[in-house]
Amino acid sequence: MPFASRLLTALSPTIRPLCPTSSTFNIFIRRTSPLALTSTITTTAPTRRLKTQTSSIAEFNSQENKTNKRDKMTGQNQALWLTEQEGDFVVREAPYWTPGPDDILVRNKAVAINPMDWKIKLFGKHIPFPRTFPAIIGADVAGEVAEVGENVTKFKKGDRVIGKANYVATDHPSTGAFQHYTVCPASGSAILPDSISFAAGSVLPLAISTAAMGLYPPHRLGLPLPSPSSDAKKGKILLVWGGSSSCGSAAIQLAAASGARVIATASAKNFAFVKSVGAEEVVDYNDDEEKVVQRLVERIRAMQGSSKDNEDIYGAIDAIGEDKTWRATAQVLHGLGGGKVVSFLPWGHEGAPEGVEVQGLNDTSSLGKLTDINEAVWGRFVPEGLKNGALKAVPAPIVVGKSLDALPEEIMKSQAGVSAGKLVIEL
Ligand SMILES: NC(=O)c1ccc[n+]([C@@H]2O[C@H](COP(=O)([O-])OP(=O)(O)OC[C@H]3O[C@@H](n4cnc5c(N)ncnc54)[C@H](OP(=O)(O)O)[C@@H]3O)[C@@H](O)[C@H]2O)c1
Repeated sequence: MPFASRLLTALSPTIRPLCPTSSTFNIFIRRTSPLALTSTITTTAPTRRLKTQTSSIAEFNSQENKTNKRDKMTGQNQALWLTEQEGDFVVREAPYWTPGPDDILVRNKAVAINPMDWKIKLFGKHIPFPRTFPAIIGADVAGEVAEVGENVTKFKKGDRVIGKANYVATDHPSTGAFQHYTVCPASGSAILPDSISFAAGSVLPLAISTAAMGLYPPHRLGLPLPSPSSDAKKGKILLVWGGSSSCGSAAIQLAAASGARVIATASAKNFAFVKSVGAEEVVDYNDDEEKVVQRLVERIRAMQGSSKDNEDIYGAIDAIGEDKTWRATAQVLHGLGGGKVVSFLPWGHEGAPEGVEVQGLNDTSSLGKLTDINEAVWGRFVPEGLKNGALKAVPAPIVVGKSLDALPEEIMKSQAGVSAGKLVIEL
């Protein structure tokens, strides 16, 4: 196969970005030129532009001045604005935000790039957020606390923190990561020990929240809550498809801290990494799918020992979120007699095999509302685990720029994917 075709195959999974109803909005993307990153898009049904509200950045800033009785912008904050749905990325002045009573304002020192960022830029009309433009996107920040809301007691100015930027839930630019100052909920932030760099810390927030929403709610996989001490009792088996990804490695770390015995998939070069974050077994997914599925079924049976009872198995996480990965993950559970898959592809799981329930995860930004789970994860496990080593700041950050200006190009380049790493911009 010519190099360009191999590259295209590697770059061109069937992608179904976040869609409100998959039957209406599934899109299949085939890149025709890896260099130009042009895409041919066919839709299973006529696409429909979701309703949005757009003003200019100048209008937004002027309105913000009036609403918050500012004379003018202070010049302290700059942001990467997305001008409109599938519009341009531009770096411009942004307000110096005031955090709400339960929030903190973080002076960002590092922000991480996620697959959702390029998907929003290229295919925003199929994605239900952001709805209001100009928008500031980005989900992961690490930095220093600049201001604390009046109800916040666990952080003070100057603390080193990581935080989940919650623009998906708020639809407000104050809560996007790609700027110098971001408002984060205190309940989705944690102290970052001095021993961990801002770049390393920035890889965690979205991955941790996404993994937690898959693992802990009773209607998902219902694992016991994680403990930062090493005494978690060894419990049931969990399959994580995509263990070397950012979300997959976070799922393994959380699950291991909940006592799960984890088996994961990854490329052979990443076996050591995946085991280092807590997987007991790793299987290479780069083979004929039937063989990989069979191998996983056999390994899980071996992990079970004499018991062949599916009560031993929590189920599976599809941390890659592609059509082929949730289907393969579901086939493994089917081979074991049934079970539940939580897929990080939010919608579009028609045709699961008999006995297998597949749930798409589309509510990561609601973790804060599940108080017990959020408190166990963000209140205890993340800060204590980072301090005592139970939680590693992985995958490794790959610093690809040192200013907001680097973001547009790096976001688009991130479509090519990373292996056991995460692209980070230091600020
Ligand atoms: N639903 C939500 O709320 C939500 C939230 C966050 C992310 N997501 C989605 O979750 C997915 C993962 O995001 P991420 O940031 O964790 O990705 P990532 O770290 O960028 O993923 C890169 C990793 O994926 C692995 N990989 C690629 N194809 C694979 C396959 N077929 N089987 C197994 N592993 C494979 C690679 O493994 P090797 O290098 O070892 O081959 C690589 O290490 C994305 O689709 C993202 O949009 C969804």
